[in-house]
Amino acid sequence: MKRILTGIKPTGKLHLGNYLSVIRELIEMQNRYQVLLMIANLHAQTVPYSTRELSFLTYDIVKSLIALGINPKKTIIFKQSDIPAHLYLFWFLSTVASVGELMRMHEFKEQSEKYKKTGVGSGILLYPVLMSADILIYNVDLVPVGEDQKQHLELCRELVRKFNKRFNTKLKIPKAYIPNETAKIMSLINPSKKMSKSEPEGCLEIFAPEKEIKQKILKAITDSDNEVKFDPSHKPGISNLMTIYKYLTKKTYSEIENNFKNKGYYEFKLEIYNSFMSYFKKARLAKNKITNQEINKIFKQSAIKLNKIANNNLNLIMSKLGLN
Ligand code: TRP
Repeated sequence: MKRILTGIKPTGKLHLGNYLSVIRELIEMQNRYQVLLMIANLHAQTVPYSTRELSFLTYDIVKSLIALGINPKKTIIFKQSDIPAHLYLFWFLSTVASVGELMRMHEFKEQSEKYKKTGVGSGILLYPVLMSADILIYNVDLVPVGEDQKQHLELCRELVRKFNKRFNTKLKIPKAYIPNETAKIMSLINPSKKMSKSEPEGCLEIFAPEKEIKQKILKAITDSDNEVKFDPSHKPGISNLMTIYKYLTKKTYSEIENNFKNKGYYEFKLEIYNSFMSYFKKARLAKNKITNQEINKIFKQSAIKLNKIANNNLNLIMSKLGLN
């Protein structure tokens, strides 16, 4: 069975964009692949963060994932910091990763600009090297990547080629997994930007209080002509809402257009809210029943399994590097 790895940074609660783009896909993939789902808590440290929140979100995200349908009996859910071998390989890779190339990464440029005033740690530059180590330590076949992580995966592929050549290792070169259909969900208040926790008003957290969800949907940006019609370039706001509704109800765009002919935006938005609540009803109930102890047990079991695989590979690598 092919091995897939992906990472989620515990920097915010799960939102509809996360669900429709990555998580929905992973739920389906866990039957066909060996999926390693990593809580990237070390990556979360590359920008200033609250230690309390990092710990809270680590549990909160895993509970959300399980409630939504990630099955911990099939998918190996683990915490990055539980597997020390990632950091060894990270260091080895950093010795061949070129500073110039790392400085050319979009995300590095963005983040270092954003935190210019407070000062940026060097972790932000080395971010993609750690990401490469996450992948390469398990000889992963496929990595599902959205638009924003494509460049990092490309760097990983170059880096492993260089590393294998330099040290005569045989680390597997991972491929990007491009899903059949990627849902790109935009911010509710700014449909030219991806839905993200950095813009809370436009971001629908799946497990947020009902009132908040309703409010955010009703406040979503539309235009003034009150016609529910799919037209992303002229009507980006309403088209984004239609995409959301399409995924929640499995209706096509033309069905939606027909259903809401002569009805207007308010009615459409109320309907999106209702379908959101019914779509996530089961998950919202399930999440409350999952305890931190259950999550700890999952982390512990995953760590035992993965430390074995990772340390094995690490030993092979170290013997080639003149360290063993
Ligand atoms: N950088 C990824 C993100 O921001 C998270 C991540 C960390 C990751 N390590 C990974 C993704 C390895 C894929 C593979 O979303």
